[in-house]
Amino acid sequence: MIDLDRLQKASGIIGNSDAIKQSLEMMAQVAPVDISVLVTGESGTGKEIVAKGLHKFSKRAQQEMVTVNAGAIPAGIIESELFGHKKGAYTGAGDDRKGYFETAHKGTVFLDEIGEMPLETQVKLLRVLDSGEFMRVGESKTRMTDVRILAATNKNLSELVQQGKFRQDLYFRLKTVTIDLPTLRQRIDDLSLLVERFALEFTRSNDIPYKGFMPEAIRRMKQYDWPGNVRELKNFVESILVLERGERITVEMVEQKLGMAQPMVQNQNLPMLIQQSPEQAERELILRQLFLLRQDVETIKAMVGQGGAPVQSVPYYHEGAVDELPRDMQIDENIQHSIRNDAIGDMNLEALEKEAISRTLQHYNNNRRAAAKSLGMSERTLYRKIDQYDLGRKIKRSNGKNE
Ligand SMILES: Nc1ncnc2c1ncn2[C@@H]1O[C@H](COP(=O)(O)OP(=O)(O)OP(=O)(O)O)[C@@H](O)[C@H]1O
Ligand SMILES: [Mg+2]
Repeated sequence: MIDLDRLQKASGIIGNSDAIKQSLEMMAQVAPVDISVLVTGESGTGKEIVAKGLHKFSKRAQQEMVTVNAGAIPAGIIESELFGHKKGAYTGAGDDRKGYFETAHKGTVFLDEIGEMPLETQVKLLRVLDSGEFMRVGESKTRMTDVRILAATNKNLSELVQQGKFRQDLYFRLKTVTIDLPTLRQRIDDLSLLVERFALEFTRSNDIPYKGFMPEAIRRMKQYDWPGNVRELKNFVESILVLERGERITVEMVEQKLGMAQPMVQNQNLPMLIQQSPEQAERELILRQLFLLRQDVETIKAMVGQGGAPVQSVPYYHEGAVDELPRDMQIDENIQHSIRNDAIGDMNLEALEKEAISRTLQHYNNNRRAAAKSLGMSERTLYRKIDQYDLGRKIKRSNGKNE
């Protein structure tokens, strides 16, 4: 039996998880035996490095492994590529030519993306698998080859069989020994090890200083789905190291690069949720403000109606203004808001209003007319609020003059 550590090192397969160890054990069992092996798994899970590892630890290791990507060869010439052709077999076939099965004699043929192989070619492949026999295109002489076949696919072959796109007999023949590689999600605990190795390898060979990843950055990466599996992770690590050249990689850098939700509040004291985009949260903050203002107006009206104290200055705001907003701008009290439920009752309305005004002004590039309209208040009220909250010093008028 092959030593697992040696197999793992020599194949360059990184990981300590049970899932990857199982794949390695299976490799160790089947590598030295002269049988065909099907390697399955999502894109980027390492099917090709497993196939190379199998060949390296086989009795044929001293011979060549010829890799054929069935998905990359046009259907019209795939048989000629695999089995060779006789001179004049078709237009353009100027000479007799050997195919991969002949070239790889005594060695290994790795049929990558076997799910893409045309049905007619599959019949001929089955014949080689069963008896080693094949014919060059345009010849009637049967030739013999001695190859071991390894195949890989990220397709569900049994589904392809049901759809009539893959021959059942070939499928049964191939699937007897299957190594099904885990997705990165299924072995997410291997992520730190993968990141560290990829980062070291990459920074060393490109002379980039390497200061590591913050633990929080790694934790965040573990929450991501990695649909492209190890390939995606490797590309990610390499490109973030180039972009942030020489920096220690932080959670913010990771989030930005992965396009994950980022903390959006500028004023960290505000009781806001952080799972929304800044635009979404900002809009909701403003709407919330309108909503609260309407409540104020109702209260004031009620006071006036009851003969309460005369009101000096009522903000410009007419009843129903919120209802007149476009539908998608209206507040739906049933959906989750930016403001945490547990912060309700503990909110400082002034701080919210100041924040809403300041950010609305920023949003409209300090155009006060637009900001006032958006906030649902008169320009005059907005000027007064700017004074009240001392926002004027930072803000330029829309005509460009300083206040
Ligand atoms: N376990 C692993 N350890 C180290 N590197 C890995 C591992 N799995 C994958 N990789 C790396 O990820 C990249 C993609 O691997 P590979 O080409 O073998 O994937 P694949 O399964 O053949 O994908 P596809 O179906 O898209 O062809 C390669 O750079 C490979 O070296
Ligand atoms: Mg591949």
